[in-house]
Amino acid sequence: MAVLDIVHYGDPILRKKCVPVKDFSILGNLLDDMFDTMYEAEGIGLAANQVNLNLSLFIIDITHTEEADEPNIFINPEITAKAGDENIYPEGCLSFPGITLDVVRPEQISLKYQTPDEIWHEDEYTGLLSRAVQHEMDHLRGIYIIDRVSQLDKMKYKQELTDIESNSKKQSAYRTRGAKRFVL
Ligand code: NI
Repeated sequence: MAVLDIVHYGDPILRKKCVPVKDFSILGNLLDDMFDTMYEAEGIGLAANQVNLNLSLFIIDITHTEEADEPNIFINPEITAKAGDENIYPEGCLSFPGITLDVVRPEQISLKYQTPDEIWHEDEYTGLLSRAVQHEMDHLRGIYIIDRVSQLDKMKYKQELTDIESNSKKQSAYRTRGAKRFVL
């Protein structure tokens, strides 16, 4: 059990497309750590690349609502259909601390994914779960919430975005230097 560092806007890993999970035996500790990290940060969703792992998986916990009885784990997910009205809803992101943007997304999706037992599922989601899944799916493809709003909306947070990006670059450089020190 460990709380991992969450990477922020400006870190190159967030723009990379994630790769499919093939070896499920590595997931046990990682998933525990991701849940610890998400709860510590008071988020409702977390993608693997937000903790510096280039893997196609994310977790969601919306058990504070009526919509879910237990947390969800989605591995190698793929949206197979979208339906319903386009809705506007305010979204925050653990990689964009302090920023909330109104994002337009379709109401309903169908998602194909695996669970940690490697079994494939296909489910339809609406409401907050649909919204959260679509947000995390964007992460896995290197897409940010700021990519989904107008230039004008983005400009409202110009200073905040500049600050997050410059801090993130410092952290990223520190991690790289730190890693080299431990190569033996
Ligand atoms: Ni996010």
